[in-house]
Amino acid sequence: MSRTPNRIDWVLDHCRLLRSLSHEYRRSQPFGGLTIGTGIHLEAKTVALLLTLQSAGARIVATGNLNTTQPDAVDFLREAGVTVIGEPTKDAETHSAYQDRLLAARPDLILDNGGDLFVKYLENPYPGLLGGTEETTSGRMRLAPLRRQLNMPILVINDSPIKQFAENEHAVGQSTLESLMRLTNKVTNGEQVTVFGYGACGRGVAANFRGANARVSVVEVDPVTRLRAHLDGFATPQRDVALRQADVIITVTGGRDVVTAADLPLLRDGVILANAGHFPVEIDAEGIFGAEDVVEVRDYADDIATALLSDGRRVHVIARGHMFNLAGPRPLGNSIESMDLGFALQVRCLEAVAQGRVDAEGCVVPVPSEIDASVAQDYLDRRYA
Ligand SMILES: NC(=O)c1ccc[n+]([C@@H]2O[C@H](COP(=O)([O-])OP(=O)(O)OC[C@H]3O[C@@H](n4cnc5c(N)ncnc54)[C@H](O)[C@@H]3O)[C@@H](O)[C@H]2O)c1
Repeated sequence: MSRTPNRIDWVLDHCRLLRSLSHEYRRSQPFGGLTIGTGIHLEAKTVALLLTLQSAGARIVATGNLNTTQPDAVDFLREAGVTVIGEPTKDAETHSAYQDRLLAARPDLILDNGGDLFVKYLENPYPGLLGGTEETTSGRMRLAPLRRQLNMPILVINDSPIKQFAENEHAVGQSTLESLMRLTNKVTNGEQVTVFGYGACGRGVAANFRGANARVSVVEVDPVTRLRAHLDGFATPQRDVALRQADVIITVTGGRDVVTAADLPLLRDGVILANAGHFPVEIDAEGIFGAEDVVEVRDYADDIATALLSDGRRVHVIARGHMFNLAGPRPLGNSIESMDLGFALQVRCLEAVAQGRVDAEGCVVPVPSEIDASVAQDYLDRRYA
């Protein structure tokens, strides 16, 4: 390599599972002659994923997700011969047009993150789509009711136990803590942090902020899950009490309108609102900035915007409600190892679909257990060999 190795080279060098898959696939070429269309965050770890698929014979047509496309990742991919459609954008319509262009390439397999590509495919189907994968919780929630129409193998990486504990719980917890501190440079010790949602991601977020000496409470709509949070030692106040007490509010539910302008009267001066859920719909940022009581919106550097209320209170919103662990300066996202695991599942699942080892009965279903077992074994072998 003649140039100085950069951040993406560092990631490529540390994705042990993807490196070993590339090594194996360079000979076997399981995606030879196939086009894979991908709609996933374009950042350093996904570069490693897409280059692995390419080394296995696939032609890759890629676009990103809202607000997370990183220009250095796009440049790296284009130089490597991947067709990348689009640029970084927060605008849903622009993003949707990129996805239309991607589907116009009529990929044989789709790697989706959030369900957008499969939903769009149903609006304008074409012959020959073999199926594919869906990466995340929010995508599974959208695609599961469409099983009958989709009627093709779609394996949900999110529903692998490995993705649940390695990424959603451990890695999202760590990266939200890292991101809040990187973006705001503010203390966590002694602060009241309220986490909305105590699924796999919420558990990790709550645990990591507790580890950073914050006082953590959980707001969870499901009483069984709320009991779990209670038995894990977190306060579980009523929603309005939690909103009144919070210095930091983190949403990670997969739902919509979790915190809105209607909550403004309850919020403390200086509260920070941050969303770690996939879609920018959990915190209604535009509704908050447009609320009657807001006299000014101040845009700070590093993707922090503050609503100044007529009574003098300030409400800070990170990344205008977009997923904040891939936002702001030097966004790193989840750890390399957690994504290496999840992306090894991705590659093995796409291979299973390409080879016809899963049929339409496997539409929006979890990763086959033998793939989980082999990826887990590979990780352990490589770690301790
Ligand atoms: N930021 C990241 O890097 C990252 C990584 C993985 C997943 N995600 C996203 O995070 C979100 C959550 O994922 P998960 O796997 O934890 O989901 P999950 O389904 O396991 O948990 C979500 C929890 O939120 C609760 N909930 C729903 N609406 C609520 C509301 N209005 N108030 C309080 N609680 C509510 C549900 O009862 C559930 O317990 C999804 O959007 C997912 O796609 C983000």
